[in-house]
Amino acid sequence: MLNLEEIDRHPEIVSTTIALPTGEQALLRPLHQDDAAILGTYFLGLSTETTRVYGPHPFDLETADRLCRELDSADHLRMLAVIEEHGQQQIVAYFIVYFGLYDSDCNRYLERHIPLDPATDCALAPSVADAYQSSGVGSLVMGHLLPLLKSAGRRRLVLVGGVRAENVRAIHFYEKFGFGKVGAFKSRGAIDNFDMIADL
Ligand SMILES: CC(C)(COP(=O)(O)OP(=O)(O)OC[C@H]1O[C@@H](n2cnc3c(N)ncnc32)[C@H](O)[C@@H]1OP(=O)(O)O)[C@@H](O)C(=O)NCCC(=O)NCCS
Repeated sequence: MLNLEEIDRHPEIVSTTIALPTGEQALLRPLHQDDAAILGTYFLGLSTETTRVYGPHPFDLETADRLCRELDSADHLRMLAVIEEHGQQQIVAYFIVYFGLYDSDCNRYLERHIPLDPATDCALAPSVADAYQSSGVGSLVMGHLLPLLKSAGRRRLVLVGGVRAENVRAIHFYEKFGFGKVGAFKSRGAIDNFDMIADL
């Protein structure tokens, strides 16, 4: 059984090394307090195409700094895939799992008579660096993350803010990991989105 409260003191309990499809070695590990510089570089490197469909928070150096300062992996687990090149660490994937659930997500599920429970459900917001997208990195991170969530006693996983209907790659990715669509909704007036949920 994984105790989420232990993660920041013992990150190794949720860390592992994997071989990426590119042949590089990556360390899958939670965000550390001293990651502000590499997290900021990751944020600033995301393309507008990625940030158009992925927006859990602003992508600037100030946010990277704040997230590292306010580190609390038992509340928001920020799982990274990190490669090392010439002694420099580089983040190639950043997956957020929120253990609290947002009211906006809960309300949409409630309207569909699917009440979410912050004690046993959690919410995912995944991203992979542009140069690494569609090369299998996201699937490797999911393969690591999902059993961890299960062993932390979580039963279901939803998407933070759903997924845009036009984001067919992400929808395929989620379906591959057992997510199913539970309904559609519009955001900012006109954008079509789906809510998707998976049993862990
Ligand atoms: C969504 C995301 C996290 C997935 O990570 P990834 O590393 O690209 O995913 P993978 O390469 O492991 O898997 C992608 C899958 O989509 C498939 N795919 C790629 N392009 C596709 C497309 N245009 N339509 C349908 N499927 C597509 C790939 O073939 C692969 O499926 P497979 O494993 O069955 O062959 C990543 O693409 C990303 O960061 N996208 C931009 C941000 C985003 O959309 N975040 C989610 C917001 S809800």
